[in-house]
Amino acid sequence: MRIYQTDGYRDMSRKTANIISAQIILKPDCVLGLATGSTPVGTYDQLVEWYQKGDLDFSEVRTVNLDEYKGLDHENDQGFCIGHSYFCNIPNGKAESDAEECEAYDRLIRQLGGIDLQLLGLGHNGHIGFNEPSDTFTRTTHLVDLQLSTIEANKRFFSSIDLVPRQAYTMGIGTILQAKKILIAVSGKDKAEIVRRAFFGPVTASVPASILQLHPDVTLVADEDALSLSGDSIG
Ligand code: F6R
Repeated sequence: MRIYQTDGYRDMSRKTANIISAQIILKPDCVLGLATGSTPVGTYDQLVEWYQKGDLDFSEVRTVNLDEYKGLDHENDQGFCIGHSYFCNIPNGKAESDAEECEAYDRLIRQLGGIDLQLLGLGHNGHIGFNEPSDTFTRTTHLVDLQLSTIEANKRFFSSIDLVPRQAYTMGIGTILQAKKILIAVSGKDKAEIVRRAFFGPVTASVPASILQLHPDVTLVADEDALSLSGDSIG
């Protein structure tokens, strides 16, 4: 695992955007796996800025999102699909059959030729996508019951906690691990303990992100606050 320690959130966002932009330059028709949540907002802003300046071309890029709440459709502004476009793929939160939707999503990723670069954020409980802590790793895209801590953490995006969906579709751990490269961005003191456990502790399904230690091409971009409890491990 490559680790870049950055000087705060802005620097983390810029570094992460730089790595994504290098991927697009090297392979203009690449498949990007994208995350939502707060962490990548600065990264996306930076990519948009470079695009608007004409420095980055997304015309051949295809994207697949990690996850979507069950019950929210593409028009809902709390859903993870904002500005649905031709190259942006995301599970359909309103699918009639959970099993069919999950199978179709994994099939779509295979048909695209797999994910070249998967961007991830890190949940406070160690989740990646919505793969919550568990006794086992789930391989493929599946429907999950969100943990109370995740519902609490995400209530900021909704007008009331009662409106936060209790379930979500997420790429499975196997789906994520099949990405050729993984880029995980983390910022803030509140993530320092889980960064230490996920990347410097034992690999266990009770900290889903810890499985990334076994992937051959992972880059962690984290600010000094997020790495503040991992000092001895990173030297
Ligand atoms: C988002 C996702 C989640 C978030 C994680 C961190 O698509 O799958 O795993 O990356 O919950 O969220 P933030 O960045 O809001 O702290």
